[in-house]
Order: sequence, then structure tokens, then C-alpha cells
Amino acid sequence: MSKTLSKPIETIFDAHRPLSQDKLLPVLIEVQKISGALSGETINLIAQAFNLSRAEVKATASFYSDFTDAPRSLPNVQNCQAEACQAMGARDLLAHLKDVWSEHYDIEVVYCLGHCACAPAIRLNGCDHARLTVDRLNSVLKV
Ligand code: FES
Repeated sequence: MSKTLSKPIETIFDAHRPLSQDKLLPVLIEVQKISGALSGETINLIAQAFNLSRAEVKATASFYSDFTDAPRSLPNVQNCQAEACQAMGARDLLAHLKDVWSEHYDIEVVYCLGHCACAPAIRLNGCDHARLTVDRLNSVLKV
């Protein structure tokens, strides 16, 4: 672990002490925010701090699609392909994303962003957009 990252991670740990399992998700979120990803070294540090196994920390992180083990080089677009979004055209949006936007965005398929009543939905760098059409998707991504 580089010293440039271990100090800020220790600061995150300090802000959440005593480190109990209910603090694991907030710590994972904050660590990924400052480091760009949850690397193997980062997982080790977190596991030691929480007195958990690496497998327990990795299992928690891998359950959520927002966590990544390598920094993303392109802005991330999460495209929901769960039932409500598929019923409202999410497959067409995904095909359009792959055809037109794949050079500019890291496109990731996820299953439910919590906007089922406003389907179809995407998450662009953590900001949600719903009731999308291909035209609305284009205008969101051109910004
Ligand atoms: S099904 Fe797409 S947001 Fe829930």
C-alpha cells in the first residue's frame, strides 16, 4: 500500500471507530472514493482493521456493483436490465449504448437501480436518470 493512500484510509477508519460490521459499507464507499477502486492491498487493510477475513470483505464488496477492484478509465454508465426496465425498453438502450457510446463510457449492466416505476433507468457516475428514451439518453450522455 502506498503511503499516499494508507494515511487517508487510516483517517477514514478513525472517523468510523469503533470499527464494527455495520461500518463496513460506509468505509468501503469512502475508501473507493479516494482510491478509485478496492485493490487487493486495500481489501487487506480493511480486513485487518475490521478483524475480518479478506473473503468476508470481498464478499461484501462484490455484492454491490458500485465497487470495483480496478480503477475505471472511462466514466461509468450502469444500465439496468431488470424486469421493469426491460419491459420499458432497456434492451434497446443497451444496444444503443454499445453501438454509439462504448468508446466514451464504461458500460455496465446492473439489475435494478431502484427506479422501477420510472423505467428504464441508468446511473451515470453515481447520478440516476430515468424514463429514458434513446433521445433522452443521448442528451444525458452529451453533457
Ligand atoms: S428494474 Fe430497473 S430500476 Fe428497477
